[in-house]
Amino acid sequence: MDALRIRGGKRLSGEWRVHSAKNAVLPIMAASILTDETSVLLDCPELSDIGYMGEILRTLGCEVHRQGSALEIDPREMSRHEMPDGLAKKIRSSIFLLGPILARFRKAAVTFPGGCEIGMRPIDLHLSGLKQLGVQIHEVEGVIRCDGKNMHAATVHFDYPSVGATENVMMAAVMLHGKTYLHNVAREPEIIDLQRFLNEMGAKVSGAGSHTICVEGVNRLHGVRYRPMPDRIVAGTLLAAAAVTGGSIKLTNVCCQDMYAICSKLKEMGCVILENDDTISIHAPEHLRPFQQLQTQPHPGFPTDMQVQMLAIATLAKGTSIIVENVFENRFTHAGDLNRMGANVVVNGRTAIVQGVNVLYGARVTARDLRGGAALTIAGLKAKGETLVEHAALIDRGYERLEDMLTALGADIERITIDA
Ligand code: UD1
Repeated sequence: MDALRIRGGKRLSGEWRVHSAKNAVLPIMAASILTDETSVLLDCPELSDIGYMGEILRTLGCEVHRQGSALEIDPREMSRHEMPDGLAKKIRSSIFLLGPILARFRKAAVTFPGGCEIGMRPIDLHLSGLKQLGVQIHEVEGVIRCDGKNMHAATVHFDYPSVGATENVMMAAVMLHGKTYLHNVAREPEIIDLQRFLNEMGAKVSGAGSHTICVEGVNRLHGVRYRPMPDRIVAGTLLAAAAVTGGSIKLTNVCCQDMYAICSKLKEMGCVILENDDTISIHAPEHLRPFQQLQTQPHPGFPTDMQVQMLAIATLAKGTSIIVENVFENRFTHAGDLNRMGANVVVNGRTAIVQGVNVLYGARVTARDLRGGAALTIAGLKAKGETLVEHAALIDRGYERLEDMLTALGADIERITIDA
């Protein structure tokens, strides 16, 4: 198995260009089957989740090629409407294909999707949204069969602003005759990016980023060349890494306005942050201050995908920080590993109380999910001695070689293979 070995103590400095966002690329890959023309995604990072999504598309009959950093998706020969069981279990984003497959074939079948082990992650909101578009859904022995022959434009209300459900239903509606209104939708920047991609394909979608999205049906879409938005969580992770080491770094290819929630917490911890067009710089103090309270919420609230990285750096702040996880119920699983490194984190349900300590010590720890793995790596950057983060493959789901990013910024980190 792959592991990351970090020798802590190096102050990060330098510059790094942030890659495109996994959470933008995945729904965009799904949307690319809404036409039978080829689409090219420029600047597409090599992440394992993107690789799995490509494999699923191939199984459905699409051709997917990588040309350097560009990903080419040719859905002309796509013939299957049933998602491959084993692959779909590997990534939760396979559920995004339900809407586009329905739009194309008016029928679809999928097993319950997989993903990181960060909570229950049901798909009821996806199914409810599709039902409101007239899709009939039957579940037989774990397989969800969708019949879309009576699909129609409609007013859809979401009980909760789920990112994936919003994207799925947006894609299902783009070629329905008439106007579909989606209410109480998620407002994440990646949804705006999907809207932009769909509109470049010829769709008529508006309102992404607000509480209501309007989808005006069009007859057909066409292929496009598109550069997905930068990854705000990769950017946030690198800023947190710089912060905990007392470093100063500059990131390019960043959308600063997507980073407000993260930057305001880092400022609260004493970091100086400078934003300029698509670059962001951080200058961290010698000792971080704690933050009063960090509550994860749907955008524009604090993103759950950055929570555990902030927890990791709060372990070394001078005082007590409180974190409340409101989005996923199971996102404190790395507190135990951080405590083994010398941290003082007490978890009670959805709340973590972090009492800052002076020193963390290197240890052998285990990534249990993507962001948790990144958080342990960050902790290792400041820990005394050597930290080994096992199961680095989980980190590869969302970071294109995190060790290369950190090495370029001056960290002492390498990928090694160890016995499982
Ligand atoms: C997306 C992101 C993920 C991020 C999350 C929240 C992608 C590929 N992944 O995941 O990185 O952590 O948004 O910002 O974009 N829920 C239901 N029923 C549903 C769907 C969701 O109860 O049908 C619940 C989930 O269990 C969770 C909450 O809603 O508690 C948020 O989930 P959602 O916004 O759907 O996240 P994802 O789209 O899965």
